[in-house]
Amino acid sequence: ALVTLRQLLDHAAEHTYGVPAFNVNNLEQMRAIMEAAHETDSPVIVQASAGARKYAGAPFLRHLILAAIEEWPHIPVCMHQDHGSSPAVCQRSIQLGFSSVMMDGSLKEDMKTPATYEYNVDVTKRVVDMAHACGVSVEGELGCLGSLETGMAGEEDGSGAEGKLDHSQLLTDPDEAADFVKKTKVDALAIAIGTSHGAYKFTRPPTGDILAIERIKQIHKRIPNTHLVMHGSSSVPQDWLKIINTYGGDMGETYGVPVEEIVQGIKHGVRKVNIDTDLRMSSTGAVRKFLAENKKEFDPRKWLAASTKGMKEICKARYEAFGCSGQA
Ligand code: G3H
Ligand code: 13P
Ligand code: NA
Ligand code: ZN
Repeated sequence: ALVTLRQLLDHAAEHTYGVPAFNVNNLEQMRAIMEAAHETDSPVIVQASAGARKYAGAPFLRHLILAAIEEWPHIPVCMHQDHGSSPAVCQRSIQLGFSSVMMDGSLKEDMKTPATYEYNVDVTKRVVDMAHACGVSVEGELGCLGSLETGMAGEEDGSGAEGKLDHSQLLTDPDEAADFVKKTKVDALAIAIGTSHGAYKFTRPPTGDILAIERIKQIHKRIPNTHLVMHGSSSVPQDWLKIINTYGGDMGETYGVPVEEIVQGIKHGVRKVNIDTDLRMSSTGAVRKFLAENKKEFDPRKWLAASTKGMKEICKARYEAFGCSGQA
């Protein structure tokens, strides 16, 4: 059944678990997410980015998600729009039938330039007024995603601030978060706590304190009824990185957010955990390996099935680690 983000995360808060929010771009991803959710009995958040809409087209994405709900009617599914760049973008998604939208007012409409606090409050509040009138949930974002190690947003394309960010922008201020939620009435808030988008988050192996856990605790204490969202939560699995590079790929050395640190975040109010890169890596690794080992094969369903299987392994592992399994 289609559910809102509020419904889904209220349950997660009540039972102290976190829900992975996987980005969806194609059929294989959708099936991987749903088969994993079905096998682990987990609730689902699928999110469509601007890049996904450009790749698959909004109607195809919408119907992929609706098809999933039809095939697995017993699983609660939140259909979420990731990183909306303006109220107009969010309005179109609401019209399309999304049950949740993200208004990312931490950046200007170009999705590159950090915006002022006043701009963020204004656009987010406008989206909340519109969305809540339609029974749709809203996620906002306060602070700029970026690595505390490098000060960089990480991703070259898509959503991420350009240039080097200063330290105060990289960690969401708890007082400002309280004021933001009071003024906008968002259901969920994405916070900056040291993560960044994409595969190149950290240059060195994690030492156990990658996330600003203290900051998460302080924010959760100030706004206990607002569900916290962690973007840039891919773990950049070293086994998939190795498979990619063994079978013809050339990705550089890089590290992500360890699953154990995400689990710590979940203990302190993180309820929605955004993951895109990990599925990209497992899909690409599985396809590279399959094609390298099956050189006579030319039926795309064979290598696409390998892609689905690779992504499904990641999805199952995250549902289990975040305490989501058995909660559908
Ligand atoms: O927020 C970034 C997500 O990873 C989506 O990226 O716009 O390339 O689909 P994308
Ligand atoms: P990753 O790039 O770490 O997977 O983050 C995805 C994300 O935050 C989508 O909004
Ligand atoms: Na989002
Ligand atoms: Zn994001």
